[in-house]
Amino acid sequence: MKGLILSGGKGTRMRPITHTAAKQLLPVANKPILFYGVEALIAAGIKEIGIIISPETGEDVKSAVGNGERWGIKIEYILQDAPLGLAHAVKTARPFLKDDPFVMYLGDNLIKDGVGPLVKRFQEGKADAFILLKEVANPSSFGVAQLDKDGSIICLEEKPKQPKSNLALVGVYLFNPMIHKAIDEIQPSKRGELEITDAIQRLIATNHRVDSHILESWWLDTGKKDDMLEANRVVLDEMTDVSMLGTFDDASRVSGRVHIGKGSILKNCVVRGPAMIGDDCSIENSYVGPFTSIGDGARVSHAEIEHCILREHCQIIDFHGRIEDSLIGVNVELTRSNNKPVAFRLMLGDDSKVEVV
Ligand code: TTP
Repeated sequence: MKGLILSGGKGTRMRPITHTAAKQLLPVANKPILFYGVEALIAAGIKEIGIIISPETGEDVKSAVGNGERWGIKIEYILQDAPLGLAHAVKTARPFLKDDPFVMYLGDNLIKDGVGPLVKRFQEGKADAFILLKEVANPSSFGVAQLDKDGSIICLEEKPKQPKSNLALVGVYLFNPMIHKAIDEIQPSKRGELEITDAIQRLIATNHRVDSHILESWWLDTGKKDDMLEANRVVLDEMTDVSMLGTFDDASRVSGRVHIGKGSILKNCVVRGPAMIGDDCSIENSYVGPFTSIGDGARVSHAEIEHCILREHCQIIDFHGRIEDSLIGVNVELTRSNNKPVAFRLMLGDDSKVEVV
């Protein structure tokens, strides 16, 4: 069994952050999302993983993940020239996949219970494809499955305007090599992509067996800013592995599950967990509230930060204000010259979003 992780795509919904970074490398609890997928496949016993990359962000993904040595497995990179769809990514990976069965994992997805039991079920069963479903409140944003009363799939539709059920396709799929023939037999959809839903639908139409399982535990698809914050919230909420490697002074109060990385120094701060502060951060006269993660080398002073992801080396200096529900990129500088009513002096990239509340 091989693993195929999709880490190409455009990431349009996460601009402007994705103008300069791969969305799959954005951190959840200070770890790139992509690493959760790699580790889930490894935990399921998979030792050969192919990662689909794009020309724009491929080099960054390669240098962040490496060749798999650190996990004792083999990782290969497969360049997809353009983001022409999930089924197109599988087609591009054909020389890597050969005729082996494989797990396809969307590199911006997280699922709580990993994929081990699913891989085992697929290997022991006789299905040509195995898909995961999850009840969601907004099915028209996803691939949607309609099941009959026995639980067999009647049809799959990609982002339907009028969804026939509330069961979304989770970004983890298991296939045997029959999927390649099905992909060869489909045409690009109206949005110009070769859709994996159409390929699975083709398997069903040609009397192949497609099994499904409805997930009870959480699944997170981190396509947009608020999804990232939700993923960060859920992962921090379940974090058990916390260490106090940095230091804080007597004037500071730290409560709840809080990880403070090595070399970080906190002075006169209140930190309420669950929260994660990376290595070599300097935080002074500030409040860090629950569900916040702060990347390595960040500097914060006179600020209140809650339910945020602050990336590495960002600087929020003498801010005298509160920042919540925010995703702040690498090296961002956010300052205020005084604490009177604010006048902003901004230089913002395309598609930036500023919310003053
Ligand atoms: P999506 O989130 O559906 O697409 P996207 O990354 O282009 O984002 P947006 O819709 O905001 O523009 O993709 C799911 C995952 O699959 C994501 O990790 C990117 C990856 N992907 C590829 O590797 N190749 C592709 O052709 C596509 C469409 C996605």
